[in-house]
Amino acid sequence: MQYIIVKHSHMLFAAVTVLLFNLRFWLRAAKPAKPLPKILKILPHFNDTLLLFTGLWLMKITHFTPFGNANWLGVKLLLLLGYIGLGMITVRAQPKTGKAWAGYGLSMLCVAAIIYLARYKPL
Ligand code: HEM
Repeated sequence: MQYIIVKHSHMLFAAVTVLLFNLRFWLRAAKPAKPLPKILKILPHFNDTLLLFTGLWLMKITHFTPFGNANWLGVKLLLLLGYIGLGMITVRAQPKTGKAWAGYGLSMLCVAAIIYLARYKPL
């Protein structure tokens, strides 16, 4: 029961992180001169802390260990570092530049791979 609640919360925070990142990216692309609303700068930190917290909690419940009994989780956490780094490059880049588009595309690829690994656990 606890597992179901924590897992679904984790999946919800995962969906929200992608949603908020996209919202920030596309708002800046649409109106580069307009600063983002303050809430869009605070909410992602709040959500991502809960995503990390529920992820650690799931590790405790499931006993999956990165590169121990769950290589998929190890690769997922490495991709998470990639997602964080690329996300920082993307939000700091001038909107609609090659750097911003490349950062955005690569971070979306990282998230897609993270979700694929978590869902199908191929490794
Ligand atoms: C961008 C970051 C993340 C995304 C998008 C994400 C996404 C997901 C998703 C969608 C699932 C459910 C897979 C399914 O359908 O069964 C999942 C499961 C899991 N996640 Fe994450 N996650 C992220 C970060 C983390 C972090 C930071 C940790 C650990 C510190 C973590 C640990 C886990 C574990 C252990 C499971 C396995 C639960 C199970 O299948 O029983 N995740 N993740």
